[in-house]
Amino acid sequence: MRNFKGTTVGSEKFYPVSRPSLSSLEEEYVVDAVRSGWVSSLGAYVDRFEEEFSKFCNVEHGVAVSNGTAALHVSLRAIGVGPGDEVIVPDLSFIATANAVCMAGATPVFCDVEAETLCMDPNGVDQLITSRTKAIIPVHLYGHPAPMSQIMDIARKNNLLVIEDAAEAHGARIGDDPVGSFGDCAVFSFYGNKNLTTGEGGIIVSNDKNLIEKCRLLRDHSMSANRRYWHEELGYNYRMTNVQAAIGCAQMARADLLTSKRKDIFLRYNTQLAPLPELTLNRQSSWATSAVWLTCVEVAGLEETKRDELIQHLRQHGIDTRPYFYPMSRMPYLPDADTPVAHEISQSGLNLPTYVDLTDAETELISAQFIESCRALKLVG
Ligand SMILES: Cc1ncc(COP(=O)(O)O)c(C=O)c1O
Repeated sequence: MRNFKGTTVGSEKFYPVSRPSLSSLEEEYVVDAVRSGWVSSLGAYVDRFEEEFSKFCNVEHGVAVSNGTAALHVSLRAIGVGPGDEVIVPDLSFIATANAVCMAGATPVFCDVEAETLCMDPNGVDQLITSRTKAIIPVHLYGHPAPMSQIMDIARKNNLLVIEDAAEAHGARIGDDPVGSFGDCAVFSFYGNKNLTTGEGGIIVSNDKNLIEKCRLLRDHSMSANRRYWHEELGYNYRMTNVQAAIGCAQMARADLLTSKRKDIFLRYNTQLAPLPELTLNRQSSWATSAVWLTCVEVAGLEETKRDELIQHLRQHGIDTRPYFYPMSRMPYLPDADTPVAHEISQSGLNLPTYVDLTDAETELISAQFIESCRALKLVG
């Protein structure tokens, strides 16, 4: 039996891909929220978290919601996306990016990604724009910023709105500016494996007060602000609880540590895996600072079945990894797409354990096993 924390069970040690960093401060704030009696969505921590996280993104307003998928859904509804509309999204992302478009009644249109950033390739966007296109959702995949200046130029020229999907990129920057401050709005996830967590949770941030007010209504069944239990349109229960926000406020107080530690871990892996020239780790574009949500490794020429064998081999040696996302266009219920880069990269990549408490000795052990597994399976020379 292996437990969640990667600690020894029997004689086995197991390293998960992720584990949250929760200190006595999170505990203190949660106890405070519980003792206050405000355990649902009213309470001081929710307002405080919205304010602190918006500041962290250098953006004026934020609405906290129950998860990142809900944040995408309400932001699409708030910018007016609905049935008949198309939304351009990168083919390589967690499925929530496309699912939220479907939930809004619109159709996702898949764009290929750049090998350099693993994010939406701006050169592929123009040819996907039709009279039905309403919005673009660039994703800052695995913590690396998407090329926002080119994407914003295309959007402005074509009168399209932009929602940044920054679910995986808390603390990433383009120049000096944090991700989340480029689009018409941006969404983040605070799932337990993210750089900052609230257990489950999400937020929409924007400088557009009207857009944020619309999101605020939608997260609470669109209940009229002036007339209780009156609902002008369809809304949802997507509220964040005060207990979740209490965890979030503690994470904000520790944000510097939580967002910098992953970069150190990536640098360690980068050095330790350098002996194998067949491996490519997270690229770091000169114009961007990645949040390094997860350490990424691509093995040259690796195909899906071999990749899965490698994952199995590592698992048998106590190391959890995860495959890169599949191109979303491969899912049977979603439209097809011509996205060769996403298809190729998706097969060759996996993510290594990346969490704040991982020690130098542990990354060294994981790297050594990674090299040994690649050699045992004859994936490298
Ligand atoms: C790129 C991306 N978008 C959206 C989401 C959805 O967030 P959540 O799991 O909080 O609903 C995730 C979650 O992992 C994600 O990785």
